[in-house]
Amino acid sequence: MASKKILVIHGPNLNMLGKREPEVYGTTGLNEINKNLLALGKKLGLTVDTFQSNHEGAIIDKIHEAFQKHNGLIINPGAYTHTSIAIRDALTMIKAPVIEVHLSNIFKREPFRHKSHVAEVATASVCGFGHHGYYMALEAIARMVK
Ligand code: DQA
Repeated sequence: MASKKILVIHGPNLNMLGKREPEVYGTTGLNEINKNLLALGKKLGLTVDTFQSNHEGAIIDKIHEAFQKHNGLIINPGAYTHTSIAIRDALTMIKAPVIEVHLSNIFKREPFRHKSHVAEVATASVCGFGHHGYYMALEAIARMVK
């Protein structure tokens, strides 16, 4: 049987991980996180694709692609979490499991980060575990798609 395909989308400013506010987001860069996700995916029998964009429309295009090609979606929409009805609407179309990830605990931070438009349509959310949250999400989604 072909392995299940999982897409991981990283939103704006996450290409700067490692350099960006390391006291909040940690010192691990995005390339390393993606490498770890691919390796863990292999162990779990999943094919993992990763994508990062700083542009809302590009993220929406990728969600449309996931709608056709992927069995599960993990997304850290960055600041668009708190602002983008368009990303929320795109995610609503996805029938496969969607897990929202945030490195930081958004509920412990500024009040404008407490609202997530994505949480309302995601299957589950993980926040506050740093980059480990991505791996937790991948392990959880593996169970959901099997
Ligand atoms: C973030 C939290 C958001 O509030 C912020 O805008 C980000 C990163 C996180 O991973 O903790 O860019 O999604």
